[in-house]
Amino acid sequence: MPAQANADTGRTASRLTDDAIVSAWRTLRAVDCARCHGKDYDGLAAPSIVEYARTQNRERFVRMVLDGEPSRGMPAYRGNPSIAAHIDDIYRYFLGRADGTIPADPRPPQR
Ligand code: HEC
Repeated sequence: MPAQANADTGRTASRLTDDAIVSAWRTLRAVDCARCHGKDYDGLAAPSIVEYARTQNRERFVRMVLDGEPSRGMPAYRGNPSIAAHIDDIYRYFLGRADGTIPADPRPPQR
């Protein structure tokens, strides 16, 4: 991995008014990560995804979601086309949750 890999972690504020983030939000709902990670993804049977985004880099985050940790109960989502297609926005959603620009609960704005 080149040393600059961190330069593109995309640590920019995201909001639920951003269409791509709304799609990511819907994907997370559809797959129901919440059943293990808690309704706000901040920890239940499985650890907080928000905290993971706060403390890990993009590469580790993406690898964890796509490859999982099957022996420890985290499924691999590489074979799920909607997760794979939205992985960058899923990461941005959790960064937004971690830095507070995206609030925990809310539904995307109706339009
Ligand atoms: C069947 C339960 C289950 C589901 C569903 C699930 N996870 Fe997990 N996840 C886990 C478990 C258990 C761990 C902890 C694995 C370990 O101990 O290494 C984990 C770990 C993680 C981690 C790393 C957290 C850390 O602190 O190590 C991330 C990020 C994550 N999951 C994201 C997701 C996302 C995103 C989804 C939905 C697309 C999802 N998970 C769905 C069970 C689940």
